Amino acid sequence: MPRAAAYAPAASAAAATAFEAHGQTDHCSPNDADGACPKLAVDRTFGLPCGMDLAGASAVVVGAAGGLGRATVGTLAAAGMHVTAADLNRQAAEASLSGVAGVDVRVASVMDEGELATAMGAAAARGPLRVVVICHGGPAQGGRLVRRDGSVHSIEAFQRTVDLFLVGTFNAMRLGAAAMASTTPDPDGHRGVIVTTSSIAAFEGGVGQLPYAAAKAGVAAMTLVAARDLAPTGVRVMSIAPGVMATPAFRRPLDEVEETFGRRVLFPKRLGRPQEYASLVETICRNDYLNGEVIRLDGGLRLSARHADGA
Ligand SMILES: NC(=O)c1ccc[n+]([C@@H]2O[C@H](COP(=O)([O-])OP(=O)(O)OC[C@H]3O[C@@H](n4cnc5c(N)ncnc54)[C@H](O)[C@@H]3O)[C@@H](O)[C@H]2O)c1
Repeated sequence: MPRAAAYAPAASAAAATAFEAHGQTDHCSPNDADGACPKLAVDRTFGLPCGMDLAGASAVVVGAAGGLGRATVGTLAAAGMHVTAADLNRQAAEASLSGVAGVDVRVASVMDEGELATAMGAAAARGPLRVVVICHGGPAQGGRLVRRDGSVHSIEAFQRTVDLFLVGTFNAMRLGAAAMASTTPDPDGHRGVIVTTSSIAAFEGGVGQLPYAAAKAGVAAMTLVAARDLAPTGVRVMSIAPGVMATPAFRRPLDEVEETFGRRVLFPKRLGRPQEYASLVETICRNDYLNGEVIRLDGGLRLSARHADGA
């Protein structure tokens, strides 16, 4: 069959009616015979994704009180998920998430196995745990490898930063994966997705950012390996590498950050919005065919050696 014919759209009233009839909870599989599932017929016609059903399922967001975390909690809750918001800082989490209905706030550090496992267990008790988003922040230490005065970079500062951003992500990833692995899979064998947060500093870290860049490169590198490890359990793993996003992480007025970085972005010439991160998380959750990949979310920004601070 010529390629054009294989992909030609064949919009019809019957297909549209079938789509209407599909509803939110019906399920279909690529293995279904043609016509067995009305949604699949429409998928093939229009290329609509037939992805994971989020409504009624459970999600954990780690670092939920931060700029990216808060937007993600809101988006997943709006999609009908039971969201467990895990963060080191209960006060900040309760204050910033008070407007989002149905969120269960849990104090959990990424460095604490017991707290994280409790948060995962609490989430699993609310519905099948299908989504774990790891987007905690914290202090990133750095400095030149050898300073002008000849003093050398502190090994402790390197270790603390790698512990928080890389080991902490690994900790949340493994405990999230274990909790997801014990759920009943959907009819296609899917148990859900883990989304980690790398950074464009993983690829183009700047002067003085060695520990943070190393940690974020580690997060990026874990993506494919973890996806391979978890494939037999039906859990996907993806990572987002944000550019410069408008969040409290910079601890200085956002218009100053915008002034420094906004004009360096290729287009649009502004900081990224937390909602743009959250929307990408939702897309990753819903698109079953995204797996083992790091997606840059940066408006085309490529940082130079001296302008990577904060990313
Ligand atoms: N904002 C950006 O421009 C940007 C760019 C690239 C990558 N990132 C990455 O995205 C992630 C989130 O960034 P953000 O801007 O939302 O940060 P943020 O500072 O706004 O929020 C970070 C959150 O993590 C929580 N946290 C700190 N230590 C924790 C721990 N040990 N355990 C659990 N939670 C902890 C904090 O309480 C806070 O609520 C970080 O990993 C950051 O490196 C951010």
